[in-house]
Amino acid sequence: MTGRKATYIPGMDELMNGGFPEGTINLITGPPGSAKSLFGIEYIHNGARFDNEPGMLISLEESRDSMIRAARSFDLDLRSLEKEDRIYLIDLGRMRVECSASEELEWGLASFDTLKNLIQNQITLSGAKRLVLDSVTAMAIYYSSSELFRRELLKFSRFLRDAGITTILISEADIGACPGYGIEGFVADSMIEMDYMVTAGEYHRTLTVRKMRFTKHDPLKHPFLIMENGIEVSPDEVMD
Ligand SMILES: Nc1ncnc2c1ncn2[C@@H]1O[C@H](COP(=O)(O)OP(=O)(O)O)[C@@H](O)[C@H]1O
Ligand SMILES: [Mg+2]
Repeated sequence: MTGRKATYIPGMDELMNGGFPEGTINLITGPPGSAKSLFGIEYIHNGARFDNEPGMLISLEESRDSMIRAARSFDLDLRSLEKEDRIYLIDLGRMRVECSASEELEWGLASFDTLKNLIQNQITLSGAKRLVLDSVTAMAIYYSSSELFRRELLKFSRFLRDAGITTILISEADIGACPGYGIEGFVADSMIEMDYMVTAGEYHRTLTVRKMRFTKHDPLKHPFLIMENGIEVSPDEVMD
């Protein structure tokens, strides 16, 4: 059996036989507020804390401060891990805002090639083993056609596989207008759907492992809660 990258999110790893198979690309989808970013933060934090594995979190959606602050409210100390060079938080959105559209084009800040360079450098420098890209949807808007986006995403996914890094790509669901939407699943080895719903006047958060290659997995929809220390999945409870 290949190695696993445990999330250490209570209840989660047992849905996928111990964790993400090493070197895979894993897509997490869900509407805004479904805790995708929190999942990504926990994956990177816990890998560094419990497995001593360097990780990278590249955000196009949130500022560094907002990531650190969100994590702190769950007692996850990203700042210390970063100071100790055990994790790397990269706010690509900020880098974009700080340069003009023409500079961005010239320097290719928005492209997958830039990401590749960033990631490759970090792997060389720190031996990064875990990566979160939040979000791949935000990358799509920088490509003029879905074909171009698809081609670049395919190349990017090949790079990630060759690099052997175990990746979470976060994707916003229900974004029909976005040219890239729907094709991310194509390059991913696994797909996890996060959602929330109201049944009988009660609010439920749910999580489903839709597909996962190279491993057995639980395909059912499970409730989860956001507790003081983060996400807690209930592997023994099933939703319709
Ligand atoms: N301390 C907290 N306790 C409980 N829930 C929280 C806390 N902080 C944030 N949340 C909730 O966690 C959810 C997760 O947000 P986030 O991970 O940013 O979602 P997404 O990335 O899918 O948009 C938010 O909807 C927010 O309501
Ligand atoms: Mg988010």
